[in-house]
Amino acid sequence: MARITAGVATSHVPAIGAALDNGKAGDAYWAPLFAGYEASKAWIAAEKPDVILLVYNDHASAFSLELIPTFAIGCAERFQPADEGWGPRPVPVVEGHPELAWHLAESLILDEFDMTIVNRMDVDHGLTVPLSLMFGQPDAWPCKVIPLAVNVVQYPPPTGNRCLKLGQAIRRAVESFPEDLKVVVFGTGGMSHQLQGPRAGLINAEFDNAFLDRLVADPEGQAAVPHLDYVREAGSEGIELVMWLVMRGALDREVRVAHRFYHVPASNTAVGHLILENPSA
Ligand code: DHB
Ligand code: FE
Repeated sequence: MARITAGVATSHVPAIGAALDNGKAGDAYWAPLFAGYEASKAWIAAEKPDVILLVYNDHASAFSLELIPTFAIGCAERFQPADEGWGPRPVPVVEGHPELAWHLAESLILDEFDMTIVNRMDVDHGLTVPLSLMFGQPDAWPCKVIPLAVNVVQYPPPTGNRCLKLGQAIRRAVESFPEDLKVVVFGTGGMSHQLQGPRAGLINAEFDNAFLDRLVADPEGQAAVPHLDYVREAGSEGIELVMWLVMRGALDREVRVAHRFYHVPASNTAVGHLILENPSA
């Protein structure tokens, strides 16, 4: 049987990818950020997942305002890195896991989550930057990756509660896949940031740290927080944090915190990061 052993949450700032790709990771501005992921790289090298189910949002790279799936699952064999403002990143092609992805699509849809099935999709910084933070700069990504895109760009995004429940359904789906696979679920985006308008540059460390606390200890309470609170307190792009609840829902009610990191600034964004282990796995 496949099983979910852990969850990883991290911000996905595109400038982090550009810093790595352009050899700036050792610069004074970036070094403290990358230092916070050294333990994470060691952790995932020891964990050796077979598959990462990576929950992220597309930033108008694969989708546009012409087509806005609330939840989309990538069932393809592979996914090409997409243009991200700095141009497509020089990172390896992302290899999918079509058998597990189709199983997830079937299980989730029959479990009443109306997933959009995507057989061709480019993947942007929302997906590739978390892989770079966790794996560095390998010639090939060391495991398969199933992209699960959530709309948090065009109002209305799914509620926190819907995201938590999707995570719970993902767990049921993974655990009904007969092959022995070790799956780690990633939730990406956030933390507080606002990229446009009079409040551009907003950071709220108090909100972010309370979110980290509650995601671990009180996921149901965090899932009840309405969109407006995220946007008011964490900025217009802070709403990306609802995707962390998908990851959290896929884990045990009580989790082990293997790593926690918070750092400001990275571009316009407060970077948050958690590694949560499933005691039952
Ligand atoms: C930034 C952060 C994001 O999450 C994003 O998608 C784009 C830009 C930033 O801080 O610059
Ligand atoms: Fe983003």
